[in-house]
Amino acid sequence: MKGLILSGGKGTRLRPFTYTGAKQLVPVANKPVLFYAIEDLVEAGITEIGIVVGDTGDQVREAVGDGARFGAQVCYIEQDAPRGIAHGIKIARHFIGDDAFVLFLGDNFIRDGIAAQVAAFRHGAMNAQIILHKMDDPSSMGVAVLDERGRVARLVEKPKQFVSPYAVIGIYMFDHRVFEAVNSIQPSARGELEITDTIQYLIDARLAVCAHLLEGWWIDTGKMSDILEANRLVLDILEPKNEGQVNGDSRIEGRVVLQNGAVVVNSTVRGPAIIGERTRIENAYVGPYTSIYHDCLIQDCEIEHSVVLENSQIVDAPARIADSLIGRNVEITRTGGNTKTLKMMVGDHSKVGIL
Ligand code: TTP
Repeated sequence: MKGLILSGGKGTRLRPFTYTGAKQLVPVANKPVLFYAIEDLVEAGITEIGIVVGDTGDQVREAVGDGARFGAQVCYIEQDAPRGIAHGIKIARHFIGDDAFVLFLGDNFIRDGIAAQVAAFRHGAMNAQIILHKMDDPSSMGVAVLDERGRVARLVEKPKQFVSPYAVIGIYMFDHRVFEAVNSIQPSARGELEITDTIQYLIDARLAVCAHLLEGWWIDTGKMSDILEANRLVLDILEPKNEGQVNGDSRIEGRVVLQNGAVVVNSTVRGPAIIGERTRIENAYVGPYTSIYHDCLIQDCEIEHSVVLENSQIVDAPARIADSLIGRNVEITRTGGNTKTLKMMVGDHSKVGIL
């Protein structure tokens, strides 16, 4: 089998981060979301991987390279515009050939990998397999209605009335019959070739479309709250490690990872937390569920339950920072003695909550 990861798209729900960066490269516990997808494929024995890229293709290429460090061979497939997930399949025909493949949306994230689902697909007589996540309210998702044999009877996109608790997540398995579907369906009202229509086409053609119910958690990291949630879940299962230095009167409590070259001086880091390469924490408090990425400076301030991207500096912030996603190359500093005044330069579509 081959792997096809979709890593283009518009990323409108994750602005302003996606104005300048690929959303699939936003780190969760200091590792880009996309890397978890590649690792899941390799762990399932799939090493020939094609990545569909759009405007942010250069960044994705630079981050992933030829895939050797994941034990994979990665090639890139250019998508001229975000014309839909099924369009991503269509343009990958030359890469996939007649092989079966896993389609993995590059911002989807599951805890337990995909080895079990891939094994079920390899050994079952199926044309497609979708993965379902049981939810109390799946009304913002595509949902699957199952028949009495557990096969997928139909899909409903964002149902207005409850039809099924089973949301369809962004990891799918197909054989070559899917190309007939993506070449036959028409763009939807929003102008995209939809994956829901693709799967419904296979069902209507009486092909075997099976479902696998996911037990562990799943997150679509397309929104800020989801990134914080994914970060929290991964930090909870991370093995503590110290590749950095802890100097002076510092305390490292609980599950903490200090990456290569991280320095903690006169500070408390209370896990679960991860501090990135060459990042310096000085006279500061880093509280639970915080990931500070590489080359940051956190000085004379308190931060918890937050994600900070690379090369950012938070120095002498007048209040504790919590529940925040802070971008790349950001500077947060106190510029005067008056803590009742805020002086800010905040980019388009940013969100600032002042309590
Ligand atoms: P979505 O999250 O459905 O779409 P989007 O990236 O445009 O984001 P938003 O809704 O916030 O505007 O996409 C799921 C994944 O598939 C994501 O990793 C981007 C990727 N994708 C493509 O590569 N090409 C496409 O044409 C589309 C629609 C998505």
